[in-house]
Amino acid sequence: MKKKVVAFTAGRRGGNCEIYVKIALQELTQMGIECEMIRLHECDLRPCLDCPNGPCYAKGPDACVIKDDGPWLAQKFLDSDGYLLAAPVWSLSPCGVVTDFRDRVFGPKMDLSQMEAHGIPAWAEGRAKQRPGALISIGGALSEHWTSLGLATLYTTTFSAQTNVIDNINIYQVADPGEALMRQDYITKVRYLAQNLGHAVLNPQKDWENKWLGDLDDGEACPGCHTSLMIAKPGRNYVECAVCGRRGYLTLDQEGKIKYSWPEDNRNRLTMMGKFDHVREIERHTAEIYEPHKDEIQDELKKYRQMEQFTVKAPSKQKA
Ligand SMILES: Cc1cc2nc3c(=O)[nH]c(=O)nc-3n(C[C@H](O)[C@H](O)[C@H](O)COP(=O)(O)O)c2cc1C
Repeated sequence: MKKKVVAFTAGRRGGNCEIYVKIALQELTQMGIECEMIRLHECDLRPCLDCPNGPCYAKGPDACVIKDDGPWLAQKFLDSDGYLLAAPVWSLSPCGVVTDFRDRVFGPKMDLSQMEAHGIPAWAEGRAKQRPGALISIGGALSEHWTSLGLATLYTTTFSAQTNVIDNINIYQVADPGEALMRQDYITKVRYLAQNLGHAVLNPQKDWENKWLGDLDDGEACPGCHTSLMIAKPGRNYVECAVCGRRGYLTLDQEGKIKYSWPEDNRNRLTMMGKFDHVREIERHTAEIYEPHKDEIQDELKKYRQMEQFTVKAPSKQKA
């Protein structure tokens, strides 16, 4: 059976994201891979309600209480062998539909480390697997720092289902309709990215966890996720990668330029080990901090739940 890549695009219809996605999908098609493209803006997709013990955990995405295209998107992802996501940068981050897409399709219910620990639910049988993926972020600004949260946020769609990002591109200076086609340099990079994704999809027997097929000399700080968004707190001799959580130890070379060293780190959330670490952290928190004291807050909790004096209802929720 042919391998399949599903591409999700969050830009304008016929816009720059879509052009690069189509260039990538043409390349993948030539490699014998079946391709589909889904326009997220054309989906009916509402925000996750975070239902306590939501039915999606046990029964899968189709049991979601929200009746929109969210479950269909989740099934599309589950039925795929490779993942491509492209989104425009709006105010430094991907446009909003990307985070609704992430929260409805991925999150804890899709967490491969939870499934490994507690068993694969029937709805995910045969489809709960590590997949290769690639990310394209597209900004219009001339300066790269106006795209600072783009790729970092696209990565947040990949953690739970263990989508192994084997290449990414942070495109900037591409703003106006069709401008994507004026940048031969980016077109070439997108073709390489697609070839890398295709290679990983066609070789699923290999371990693609935390592997990188993109440009090794891309000037990015973190060798795991190939981004440079770092948490740098005073008094520490290390930074934490804001995307994967790894620690990079800082030194200055003779010219005063920053150098990092990146030891292996169990906190790396691009790996199953990093996610196990997080699952343990969540379970410990509930067992040791919340459960022993939850009865003490019940009266106060009731008071705040009933407090409506500050709430203003949206027009759509007001009775005629
Ligand atoms: C509301 C809004 C905010 C934007 N903010 C940024 C920004 O912070 N940084 C940036 O580089 N581009 C920004 N852009 C430009 C888009 O990222 C750019 O036009 C992109 O090419 C659009 O992709 P599309 O054609 O696929 O929709 C913004 C565009 C809009 C509509």
